[in-house]
Amino acid sequence: MTQQQYRITLLPGDGIGPEIMAVAVDVLKLVGQQLNLNFEFQTALVGGAAIDATGEPLPAATLETCRQSDAVLLAAIGGWKWDSLPSHQRPERGLLGLRSGLGLFANLRPAKILPQLIDASTLKREVVEGVDIMVVRELTGGIYFGQPKGIFATETGEKRGVNTMAYTESEIDRIGRVAFETARKRGGKLCSVDKANVLEVSQLWRDRIIQLASEYQDIELTHLYVDNAAMQLVRAPKQFDTIVTGNLFGDILSDAAAMLTGSIGMLPSASLGANGPGVFEPVHGSAPDIAGQDKANPIAQVLSVAMMLRYALDKPEAADRIERAVLQVLDNGYRTGDIMSNGMTLVGCRAMGDALLQALEKPQS
Ligand code: IPM
Ligand code: MG
Repeated sequence: MTQQQYRITLLPGDGIGPEIMAVAVDVLKLVGQQLNLNFEFQTALVGGAAIDATGEPLPAATLETCRQSDAVLLAAIGGWKWDSLPSHQRPERGLLGLRSGLGLFANLRPAKILPQLIDASTLKREVVEGVDIMVVRELTGGIYFGQPKGIFATETGEKRGVNTMAYTESEIDRIGRVAFETARKRGGKLCSVDKANVLEVSQLWRDRIIQLASEYQDIELTHLYVDNAAMQLVRAPKQFDTIVTGNLFGDILSDAAAMLTGSIGMLPSASLGANGPGVFEPVHGSAPDIAGQDKANPIAQVLSVAMMLRYALDKPEAADRIERAVLQVLDNGYRTGDIMSNGMTLVGCRAMGDALLQALEKPQS
């Protein structure tokens, strides 16, 4: 059998990024060996690490390397060290530049509760048991990118900070389509979240989503205002299947949805464009408070590898193997600090990685 060859760009970034990336790469290599997939890795700079080395959060060379690859695996960016820099020089700008530079308008953030971790959730078992939500967040528009933006002086010389929440019909339609298609592959329910009772941009959003629904008559469409959606997510999260929303609301709601599962350290995400490579990354950040201490949970990064195999490389068998290995190490009682509970075995990032490799080598049926 001929080997399939894939070019993967690795962006380890800052904080715990390099530690969790190392585990994810080991896992990817092993599953590649098992299934005869060959990965060629390129590591590039982004975020604070790039600022330190080049003065910019997203060097042109990094974007170019990403463009030349089949998929991009990103860990995390940011940290206290760079927090006081002006906004255009901050590490976060590297991430936003990557999203817009690669045209990654669709961000898929699954929040699925694992039976092994129900007790790690801060919510009651009966509230979260069975939760399986996919947040489809628009990622290259809305208030993150709308013009005008900036801090301007008023006529009286006072400063005024401005951002603009704007969506065109075509931007709404393309994310809407991704969401309807996603819902179709899942439970067939889509909830669109907006603030149409106050914002014109949301009125247009709602109108377009309703228009699109006529093409997806098999999907049950509902609408919620974002404040109510936040409340419903913590009150009765099982009512949700797929959620579609704009950039800012999606940023906020995806953190809330993630936390239903007990730890944001468990959740992967995929950012996809119309064509070209997607970016696969954990939902969590760079956790500077535990960086370099071998305490990080690498599972979200490892599950991001699984999402990459599934969505970018179309290798569902490889993705399944990795997801099964994650469940197996949890069944075997291994826990990093963020998901630790009574009677379980506390391990660090590297030991969790070793356990994952072992589970991949000796899967239990
Ligand atoms: C996320 C993050 C980013 C965002 C930050 C780091 C720019 O919170 O991916 O959710 O706001 O999109
Ligand atoms: Mg966020």
